Amino acid sequence: MAKQILILPGDGVGKEVSTSAVEVLDYFISEENLDFNIIEAEIGGASYEKYGSPLTDETLDIAKNSDTVLFGAVGGPQWEDLEWDLRPEQALLGLRKSLGLFANLRPAFLFNELASASPLKNHIIEDLDILIVRELTGGVYFGEPRGLVENEDPKYAFNTMIYNEEEIRRIATVAFKAAMDRNKKLCSVEKANVLEVSKFWREVVTDMSADYPEVALSHQLADNTAMQLVLNPNQYDVIVSSNLFGDILSDIAATLSGSIGMLPSASLNGSGQGMYEPCHGSAPDIAGQDIANPIAMISSLAMAFEYSLERKDLAQKIQSAIKIFINQGNRTKDIATSEEFIRTSEVAPILIEIIQNEQKN
Ligand code: IPM
Ligand code: MG
Repeated sequence: MAKQILILPGDGVGKEVSTSAVEVLDYFISEENLDFNIIEAEIGGASYEKYGSPLTDETLDIAKNSDTVLFGAVGGPQWEDLEWDLRPEQALLGLRKSLGLFANLRPAFLFNELASASPLKNHIIEDLDILIVRELTGGVYFGEPRGLVENEDPKYAFNTMIYNEEEIRRIATVAFKAAMDRNKKLCSVEKANVLEVSKFWREVVTDMSADYPEVALSHQLADNTAMQLVLNPNQYDVIVSSNLFGDILSDIAATLSGSIGMLPSASLNGSGQGMYEPCHGSAPDIAGQDIANPIAMISSLAMAFEYSLERKDLAQKIQSAIKIFINQGNRTKDIATSEEFIRTSEVAPILIEIIQNEQKN
């Protein structure tokens, strides 16, 4: 049966980087005769402008029926003052929740050639290769009750950080399994010294460790992890955390790699369906200038091939082409060390050429 892929370029640089990823996708579709059905739709601000909503019911329906969603980026200053429900970010949260994409995989790795682009000293980040597993459909992002009470004095606002045992077990299972496939180290991050929900999280994860005797499990407090990620990031293999802490820690980890423009992500629901997006946002300040780095988006396509499209071989082809691309000295503006740089629109054609050359060898 044909696999359905929904492309949601979104706003800002989301459009440009999606174009690059689609070029690579199109190449494989024709080269490998893939039975893929590709649909493209608006999301975020672009959708709001056209339909008055950042995520229409129709788009959501298509997403639910797709094997893979390739998501560019959403947001921009022109939509910042919109009512809550109309803001571009709501499209992202709506898709995550409606598709049940509870497991967010955020790898942070360094191409050693790019070490000088990292804000940290070379010897600290060399060989960096971490996977952050972030819970994505629960916690304080979605917890009820929540709200703003304006008719009392003083006014107040509140959210609820809540996890049930099942939610903790299913995200920790993803993390334990990922650790088994990697270096068998898992660090679970929370604030068990302050929050009941974190204390419970720690108990559940500890209880599960008996099922994964080969995995060395450790626990860390989130503030300490923020510091340790900068001091000694190579102590980590897999990190598992809640929605909020995972959000914060994954940005820190991404920065270590020199450019957030290099890092992909996958959001999975456990039944093969996934949404794939670059870790960077819509970067409105550089949008439309053909200078964004599309590698995070193309790498996200690689993750889609691996986790949703059952073509790990093609994922590997993309990943090794990216390595060669960097190795050959190709640099987009964000990682360039001289005045010269490769433009967004030039990246996919170079990668495709590399893939073709590799094929011949
Ligand atoms: C992310 C982003 C989102 C989040 C925003 C845009 C809602 O920061 O994907 O990390 O907080 O999850
Ligand atoms: Mg974030």
